Amino acid sequence: MKWRASVFVWATAAVCVGLSAAVPERSLREAAQLPGLLIGTAVRPVQLSEAAYASTLAREFNMVEPEDALKWEVVHPAVQYFDFSQADQIVDFATRNGMKVRGHTLVWHQQNPGWLTDGKYTSDELAQMLEKHIKTVVGHYRGKIFAWDVVNEAFDELHPGELRSTIWRNQPGIGLGKAGNAYIERCFRWAYEADPQALLFYNEAEAEVINPKSDTIYAMVRDFRQRGVPIDGVGFQMHIANLHPNVASISANINRFTALGVQVHITEMDVALPVDPNGNPRPEDLQLQADIYREIASACLSHPGCTAIQTWGFTDKYSWIGSHSKHTQGAALPFDRDYRPKPAYAALRDALERSTRR
Ligand code: XIL
Repeated sequence: MKWRASVFVWATAAVCVGLSAAVPERSLREAAQLPGLLIGTAVRPVQLSEAAYASTLAREFNMVEPEDALKWEVVHPAVQYFDFSQADQIVDFATRNGMKVRGHTLVWHQQNPGWLTDGKYTSDELAQMLEKHIKTVVGHYRGKIFAWDVVNEAFDELHPGELRSTIWRNQPGIGLGKAGNAYIERCFRWAYEADPQALLFYNEAEAEVINPKSDTIYAMVRDFRQRGVPIDGVGFQMHIANLHPNVASISANINRFTALGVQVHITEMDVALPVDPNGNPRPEDLQLQADIYREIASACLSHPGCTAIQTWGFTDKYSWIGSHSKHTQGAALPFDRDYRPKPAYAALRDALERSTRR
């Protein structure tokens, strides 16, 4: 009798396991295959040696982007020296796991090395250095990095619609400071010369809705397209801290940019939540966060030209939001600190599975 009972229990368990194995839940990466979307994340190479980090990354994403490893201060640490070791690790990981690699970023006002910012170079010298930097870095990854954020955050926060003052534009700039966005155009042309196959993106913060900043970028991209400047896409960073974003405006904005014939990538999405001193969010905010991930993913999926959704990291264990907000915000990503999927994960996957795009 005892024996029969234990066989029954065993058999029931086996059936249950068998059943759940027969209908496995899809990973994000598998769900993204249906609509043919790139689903990516920013990564830091030191963490690739952590088993849970690496296995989650390879299972869930089909695209990666170095979070910092291609910024000037890392890849170009001395005037005559390029250090590709960190970014190469990421590219190798991507190759082994069949993932695409986005490059970030060739021209930015932040995370530049001291030798550059303190070097008191002339405009001619800066122009030569920038051309060499773009061509060396893009050339090193020709055929390996399929898309580049050529220029990042060139427009000002405080004076919406105006170009930011930077070492590349006008301090002292590369010699085109009086010609509006001509310095941006020059960077795109250099990148194109280094790899005509790569998709070239302009990437920006706080331009995901229709606002004065996105209006100015729109005018720039339209002008570039009309004049044959090689630009293929616009990246909207999508760092969200307001739990009631205007998704209708985000969707309308994606619509107007893709109508210009450029692709849109969501490049740095996270949804920062208020957290207590232990880093824990309010449970009800996790659901609001999930809704935001779902709605923005659906907005992207509803426009065929929106071809990638990328999060800025994937586990709350490693996210720039903590230090950026002095630890008042966090829990911004689809996986918690122990790599457990959060409601935001299920919402993202649901949006991918429900998309009618094929
Ligand atoms: C952030 C990284 O996540 C941090 O590790 C680094 O310390 C600072 O930069 N917009 C961008 C990204 O385009 O490059 C920034 O990344 C976040 C804001």
